[in-house]
Amino acid sequence: MQRSGPFRKPRAGLSRRGGHLPAAAYTDAGYLQHEHAALFLRTWVLAGTASEVPHDGDARPVEIAGRPLVLLRDRGTVRVISNICPHRSACVLDAPVSRAAALTCPYHAWSYRLDGTLRMRPHFHGGGVHDTDPDDPQVRLEPVRSARWNDLVFVNIDGNAPPFEDFITPVAQRYEGYDFSAMKLAGTFELEAPGNWKLVAENYLDNYHIFALHPSIDRSYPQARRHPARLVAPPLILGSYAKDASEDNYMATLPANPGVPAHLRNDNAFFTIFPNVLMHVWSFSVMVMQLVPLSPERTLERYFFYFHAPDGELPADAQPREQAMEAYRAINETEDFPIIPNMQRTRASGGFDQGRLSAFWDGLITDYARLHLDTIERRNR
Ligand code: FES
Ligand SMILES: [Fe+2]
Repeated sequence: MQRSGPFRKPRAGLSRRGGHLPAAAYTDAGYLQHEHAALFLRTWVLAGTASEVPHDGDARPVEIAGRPLVLLRDRGTVRVISNICPHRSACVLDAPVSRAAALTCPYHAWSYRLDGTLRMRPHFHGGGVHDTDPDDPQVRLEPVRSARWNDLVFVNIDGNAPPFEDFITPVAQRYEGYDFSAMKLAGTFELEAPGNWKLVAENYLDNYHIFALHPSIDRSYPQARRHPARLVAPPLILGSYAKDASEDNYMATLPANPGVPAHLRNDNAFFTIFPNVLMHVWSFSVMVMQLVPLSPERTLERYFFYFHAPDGELPADAQPREQAMEAYRAINETEDFPIIPNMQRTRASGGFDQGRLSAFWDGLITDYARLHLDTIERRNR
């Protein structure tokens, strides 16, 4: 591992009073590799959603920490397995498939059952001599440790993170009693954010910039009534807990989920499940954003929108849902995206390493840096 720049003293800018990660942690390709190895491989991270594989035999490729994986449903169970063929390392699945009975490698057509075990190797013992009953259980698409919280499918690739129940407890406790099963996936889209994944996450939690970049949000929730984000307990960082969901805004035309306990009914909270989930939960909707770092300067944002579905069916009129999703896309693309490469550029310039933070608003930036380093150093996960 590289031992210079942000690796040597990543805590150098942190003091009891503030600070954040060094600029190179946002720009250095070696640091992203370090994050893949020490963070994304070792803690619980979102791999996708169960709704993406609704039927048995549905499978889709996903990539976490640069590792090719398959998210699939097999006899009702959602699981994650390796997408690397143990023969000569071909990537087995390169596009989603539906209701497949098996996964077949494109190179020499070895086929695998949906639990990853080897099913058959054509011509393995010579032309026309197939291995139809492989007896080596070691030769398989390896299972990946996975767990679900409602529709969200998390993986721990190295298999050594603490139990998932411990990881998700702060989030599950805050939403105890919220009937997520009444919310159905209504739409997805992807955007490519022009910046480091941590800049995207920090911006999502930054309540300070609303008045300057988001006039429409500022009209609904003026700056004077906003709170700074706060670290509740790892992995939960709460961006806002304004109790104003019933006010006039673009979500208010959507039906509310009656299976939301009274104390959460007017709750409008956006938060992070560190490291790669950004969420926004109201009684009207649930938005999940999965962050996938593509490079130090590019981040894939995968959006999942859930709305209340009485009796399991979304209301026939899709227009209010489309409007809500479009509003989200527009705010991100037109109002937030321009500032991200702006900061990315200055951090790569060598002209900035530590900011002069607001004591009122920016405590989260310091907490975020600490959580990041603590997780990498396994002080908590
Ligand atoms: S690499 Fe997959 S069958 Fe050969
Ligand atoms: Fe923003």
